[in-house]
Amino acid sequence: MALSALLEEVRGGDLPTHVGIIMDGNGRWAKARGLSRLEGHRQGALAAERIVRFVVKERLFPYLTLFAFSTENWARPRHEVDGLFALFESFLREKTEELIDSGIKLLVVGDHKPLPEGLQAAIEEIEKKTAQNGALTLAIALNFGGRWAILRAAKDLLRAARSIAMGPEEVGEELFRAYLPTGFLPDMDFLIRTGGRVRVSNFLLWELAYTELYFTDILWPDFDEEALLYALKDFQRRERSFGRVKG
Ligand code: FPP
Repeated sequence: MALSALLEEVRGGDLPTHVGIIMDGNGRWAKARGLSRLEGHRQGALAAERIVRFVVKERLFPYLTLFAFSTENWARPRHEVDGLFALFESFLREKTEELIDSGIKLLVVGDHKPLPEGLQAAIEEIEKKTAQNGALTLAIALNFGGRWAILRAAKDLLRAARSIAMGPEEVGEELFRAYLPTGFLPDMDFLIRTGGRVRVSNFLLWELAYTELYFTDILWPDFDEEALLYALKDFQRRERSFGRVKG
């Protein structure tokens, strides 16, 4: 089916508000071509750009979260980790103007402190420069872990509770959510994972409670506009009940 026809079809149905993507398979994509893993990540960055451009141009949904680096990814070879950080930094610096012009608000969620200083500075700058935008909120999960986020919220809440004499009965879901580093994001409606593995890998655990999950064998550098539209079509076939019985 032609891309434009597919797009029209997808537009005719319910679209998610918040989509998350676990961009897996860069290493295998590169290996299959006799290239370095870093080259795979470079191609992965191009795929991420392509998807973000399409989502914002077509206004497909207002929130997109990309899992770029997990708290567990430090265990990769040093030069791969350094290469990934260099790639993120140059991506943020080179794309600043395009992000501003296309109306994207970019936020990087995760523990920034252990990241290289240049990368931290680039994050701070781009977050500030895009803060007023509203066409698409693009969250990049970088040095992120779902458990890290929940633990951080619990610690911050304990600290706050001590200073304002708040009791445990006063802590409800909405209050707890406000303490999460991802508190600005709504629940995730749809999670796409490329690369053939069927797991959640410590992504946004709180927001994943009622998420529809979609797994594809496509390796991330090959994931394109058409693949995204087919995934969204699959989402539109799901019956979402949020634990209730649908009448
Ligand atoms: C998983 O592939 C991918 C990563 C750990 C890094 C993701 C990074 C990018 C896609 C680059 C750019 C992103 C942005 C937002 C600029 P893998 O190495 O685990 O692949 P494998 O499972 O085949 O080894």
